[in-house]
Amino acid sequence: MKFHIQTWGCQMNDHDGEKLSGLLSAEGFEAVDSAEEAELVLLNTCSIREKAVHKVYSELGRLREEKQRRPLMVGVTGCLAQQEQAALFKRAPHIDFVLGTMALKQLPRLVAEAQAGKARVMDAGEYPDNHLFPPSVTRRRDTAKALVTITEGCNHACTYCIVPTTRGAERHRPYGDVLAEVRGLVERGYREVELLGQNVNSYAGGCTFADLLERVSEVEGLEWIRFTTSHPMNFTKDLARVLVANPKVAPFLHLPLQSGSDRVLKRMLREYTVAEYLERLGYLGEGRSRMALSTDFIVGFPGETDEDFDATMRVLDEVAFDGSFSFIYSPRPGTPSLRLKDDLPMAVKSARLTRLQQRQSELTRASNERFLGREIPVRIETHGPNEQGWWLARSGEWKTIHLAAGPGRELPFGELVRARVTLASPHFLGAELV
Ligand code: SAH
Ligand code: SF4
Ligand code: F3S
Repeated sequence: MKFHIQTWGCQMNDHDGEKLSGLLSAEGFEAVDSAEEAELVLLNTCSIREKAVHKVYSELGRLREEKQRRPLMVGVTGCLAQQEQAALFKRAPHIDFVLGTMALKQLPRLVAEAQAGKARVMDAGEYPDNHLFPPSVTRRRDTAKALVTITEGCNHACTYCIVPTTRGAERHRPYGDVLAEVRGLVERGYREVELLGQNVNSYAGGCTFADLLERVSEVEGLEWIRFTTSHPMNFTKDLARVLVANPKVAPFLHLPLQSGSDRVLKRMLREYTVAEYLERLGYLGEGRSRMALSTDFIVGFPGETDEDFDATMRVLDEVAFDGSFSFIYSPRPGTPSLRLKDDLPMAVKSARLTRLQQRQSELTRASNERFLGREIPVRIETHGPNEQGWWLARSGEWKTIHLAAGPGRELPFGELVRARVTLASPHFLGAELV
């Protein structure tokens, strides 16, 4: 049977897609590049905002038509599957099975039941060993960096967020398992890993997250470690020290702020004030100047006033984030923020988002310009040049690099090369091979 997995959402979901792909490959199924060629299509969904959910339903609509023309099995996995469970069958009766985020290993059984003719097959149970997925099964996409789960679930309760519902409470992988997986990856040629969790900072698999970074960094042959995501209240001095001092930890920190107003942060139940957030950034000391910082913002949270939003703009400038992701607040089913009065017109929210993104784009350009003329290590992330003749690469600070190699020159996929930055745009750095 030929299968295709379409994934939306975060790195965790991306990596779950690699695990699901491995499970099907182990059954002798063959992965194909498009839904058109596939006999089984898995929609590995995200439900963080309404827009993400719309994308899933629109793809489901397309597959309904396709299913009228030819035999096709449709499965839904990921966060929307966990959230909606059996309700998905009502909305889209052509779905053959639904698999929750905490029951990944049940996939082959669900497919077999659906193949045997059973309708509306579902498992959205919580298997306590879901996070202990065997790395040997995972079938990785062809990327330079390997994703490694260290913790699943979230114990915070931000009032706008669906993730605690869709991913459950925290479960941590023992550090020995993490180390064994990273060693195996390095043996297979990977030089960079990204440690994943809804909140990696609260890691408790036998040591702290700071200790885990130190231990992983001792794996011989590994060059860079990245991690995502961090909750500011679990960002410790120990972690900051490792981040600044350990040369194998890439000089990049994504620390979601969400809002620059204490009033809004309180209603979001983020558990910190702006001052506390800044205090934690301060843990990085002078090492901060050598790294890139990025963050997330939610704009137009219920009750956000002009003053609240101005406060966000001030913090944006004060920290001068190298990059940020910003979104208009999206009400999610079952979340506590639904009860807050949300009477701000969408036009006002959109105008705020545009203002924030424009300012960020200036800050990112300034951040990029600081690299002009510098010689930096970058990792090659593509197998060949694109139409413009650039090889795509990535710096430790997570800057996208368009690298000119010179005509006919082959660059080693996944390896570090030295490059001199010759151009800074708001979205990428242009560089040439040294
Ligand atoms: N675990 C991560 C968050 C993952 S969600 C963390 O706490 O850092 C990624 C981002 O999506 C969040 O940081 C937030 O900015 C945004 N987000 C989450 N729920 C949202 C909602 N209901 N509306 C708009 N943006 C949201
Ligand atoms: Fe969601 Fe908050 Fe948990 Fe992040 S920390 S996943 S925003 S509840
Ligand atoms: Fe989306 Fe779930 Fe990730 S809601 S952002 S896929 S944890």
